Amino acid sequence: MKSGVKKAMGYIRYSVAGSFILAAWGLGLTGVSNASGTYSAGAASTPEAVVYREECGACHVAYPAGLLPVESWSTIMTSLDDHFGENAEVSAESAAMITAYLTDNAGKPGRGMLKRMKGDAPLRITELPYFVRKHDEVPERMVSGNEKVGSFSNCNACHERAESGEFDEDTVRIPGYERWSD
Ligand code: HEC
Ligand code: HEC
Repeated sequence: MKSGVKKAMGYIRYSVAGSFILAAWGLGLTGVSNASGTYSAGAASTPEAVVYREECGACHVAYPAGLLPVESWSTIMTSLDDHFGENAEVSAESAAMITAYLTDNAGKPGRGMLKRMKGDAPLRITELPYFVRKHDEVPERMVSGNEKVGSFSNCNACHERAESGEFDEDTVRIPGYERWSD
């Protein structure tokens, strides 16, 4: 009886330790994927996020807010009548919601995609030094020369889960080419 209890205690201790190890391992994995290519798109289901995806996902993927700093988003949101050669104006009500969403979830200078950012905040993600560095091995023929891609602004052509902020190197798939490996 006594040894049975001991045995049970031993088992409990063992399984508690085991789940700590599993939990730590799980955290470790999430940590790794955060470091390599996961960016905040914020909570997906707030009214602000829904309006953002509807309005700003109409012509291109709704870029995760964490890919640009607040300054860039503010400039974009106050010049929608001349948006990269298009008119992307929205109602005042939508603009206020979208600006709130982007400001709340914007990237922090010096971190993630905004590493090595110097001087003025660019209007394009594709002009950020970290972006340029991460893509400098991708040849033109796979981008502008690829009718299924067209330009680097089309994140979701190569990163299937771009809208949810997942850009991990392991999940890149360039249309018309074998799985990417560098
Ligand atoms: C009428 C179509 C249209 C709508 C609506 C639109 N955009 Fe754009 N957007 C464009 C075009 C065109 C480009 C340039 C793409 C290119 O160079 O290939 C662009 C580029 C961008 C870029 C830069 C991407 C890069 O190259 O790094 C950002 C950021 C952006 N848009 C944000 C927004 C936001 C925020 C909204 C919603 C308020 C929005 N867009 C709505 C057409 C649109
Ligand atoms: C033509 C295909 C293509 C397009 C379009 C593209 N990417 Fe990439 N991206 C790649 C490839 C390939 C890599 C992996 C590069 C390497 O091996 O270092 C990559 C890597 C990345 C990484 C680094 C991931 C990591 O694990 O560290 C990020 C972040 C990223 N891309 C974001 C973007 C964003 C944001 C856009 C759109 C504005 C975009 N990409 C558009 C092909 C593309």
